[in-house]
Amino acid sequence: MLDWIPAELSALEAKGLRRTLEPIAGAQGPVVEISGRALVNLCSNDYLGLARDPRLRDAAVQATTRLGAGAGAARLVVGDMDLHHELEARLARMKGTGAALLFSSGYHVNAGVVGALVGPGDAVFSDEWNHASIIDGCRLSRADVQVYRHRDVDGLARLLASSRARRRLVATDAVFGMDGDAAPLGEIVDLCERHGAMLYLDEAHSTGVLGPTGAGLAEALGLTARVDVLMGTLGKALGSFGAFVAGSPELVDWLVCRARTFVFTTALPPACCAAAIAALDVLATEPERRARLDALSRRMKAGLEALGFSMRGVVAPIFPVVLGEERRALEASRLLRQRGFHVKAIRPPTVPPGTSRLRVSLTASHAPAQVDGFLAALKDVLAALG
Ligand SMILES: Cc1ncc(COP(=O)(O)O)c(C=O)c1O
Repeated sequence: MLDWIPAELSALEAKGLRRTLEPIAGAQGPVVEISGRALVNLCSNDYLGLARDPRLRDAAVQATTRLGAGAGAARLVVGDMDLHHELEARLARMKGTGAALLFSSGYHVNAGVVGALVGPGDAVFSDEWNHASIIDGCRLSRADVQVYRHRDVDGLARLLASSRARRRLVATDAVFGMDGDAAPLGEIVDLCERHGAMLYLDEAHSTGVLGPTGAGLAEALGLTARVDVLMGTLGKALGSFGAFVAGSPELVDWLVCRARTFVFTTALPPACCAAAIAALDVLATEPERRARLDALSRRMKAGLEALGFSMRGVVAPIFPVVLGEERRALEASRLLRQRGFHVKAIRPPTVPPGTSRLRVSLTASHAPAQVDGFLAALKDVLAALG
């Protein structure tokens, strides 16, 4: 019954849209080994370089030794551990909210929390470039989904003004994962307040990166108290795995009852929680990591601009090198690999057709020479591509 698959895969291949897995041998880091070659890794979300930090690793080992490998059940059954509550308290403190609730991943948060807040008869307003998991969460909610143009506050204002829905929720990425630009949060907060809409902010790429203490975009703009739902992930800058919602205690109480992706899944394993707690310690005590990341980012941004790429609006260590057609992006990625750099080509449906790109990202563990080496290799590759 699955005999249709090979032809469909060939069709994807012909359009330059086939995706395949490529295992790295060894650990995540600024250099990774793929197919026996050491490559400078410019596509990880391990922004603070914590994924293989010995402190996170040791915390995970100790928690596993003490508490076991798995939580064994959903939180509401018998998987709820002291360690989950300890991490939730730490996350709420970091975010500056009254409470926080752990989920298995950022995907789980977005897929389940939107539907816990709005449903049939309600409306959700979503930036067109929001992450796929928000898009799926909107669809699953069965609310009326209204998509506004990327960062278009006037468009959003018009949609909100004409909506007669019972409850309204505006959902936006804080930092957009494929472009590194930020939502116009101040204007969106004002609009939500004016129209009585709830605000849902996805801080997956900004947690640990933006703001005076690394709490994210809302902290950077002093807007935390005016955002109803803040989500963040533990799997990017915080070097572990899992995710969370931060907000009021009432919000958390409600999600415990109604977020299906919280209720109907196994609790996070102890190792992930302990590693995340260790990451929060590092975030609080080593601001120099973020300073290093900032300096590297400025270097990369200036170099890419000198090569003619627009970095307008980029606020995070994510740099879109937009090349256009899928095959051009794939070829650029292949040629860069020959020169010792691992940068993935990002193609539709992850990005709009005609905007295939290299999504270049940096971590605090990179060296300035690796940035310079990449810029020189990219210049070479662009000349080869014509
Ligand atoms: C904006 C955004 N939200 C949510 C997620 C999902 O987070 P996780 O990887 O923890 O599932 C991602 C991951 O790529 C993302 O980029």
